[in-house]
Amino acid sequence: MSERTTIRFTLNGHAVEVSAPPMQRLLDVLRETCGLTGAKNGCGEGDCGACTVLVDGIAVVSCLVPVIQIDGAEIRTVESLAQGDCLHPLQQAFLERDGTQCGSCASGFLMTACSHLEHGGDTSDAELRAALSGVLCRCTGYNRVLEAVQQAAEGAGHHAGDRL
Ligand code: FES
Ligand code: FES
Repeated sequence: MSERTTIRFTLNGHAVEVSAPPMQRLLDVLRETCGLTGAKNGCGEGDCGACTVLVDGIAVVSCLVPVIQIDGAEIRTVESLAQGDCLHPLQQAFLERDGTQCGSCASGFLMTACSHLEHGGDTSDAELRAALSGVLCRCTGYNRVLEAVQQAAEGAGHHAGDRL
């Protein structure tokens, strides 16, 4: 059995301490140890983006991140977006634009878009396609996803620095 180590990080605004094998995937720690199943286990090889979370504000595929690497980091998952019953503007726009069907790609899109917009990313079709290119969807097609992100950015007054 692998040796375990103690890893401390901030998860969706809360200080967390876990004991895990250092090379265990962040994705598994989030889903199995922390009970947050929003990040999905798709390909497991860094190709589909379904497992995307934010590490210090940057979108990363958590299936490729050994948990030891996030010691001291700030992790945000899709569970951080809604505030109680109030959906995040991105989630609301995905609902209104039918931006998801089976849902397995949704958290990857949402967290990737969240990072992009928070960093002041451009919301033109071309820029968004590039920004979201690491997330694969087999159901919806990408136009609705793009429209949803653009709607969220506009509706939340993205450029005015409102919540996104
Ligand atoms: S499950 Fe991580 S990229 Fe596919
Ligand atoms: S909605 Fe099914 S993979 Fe995107």
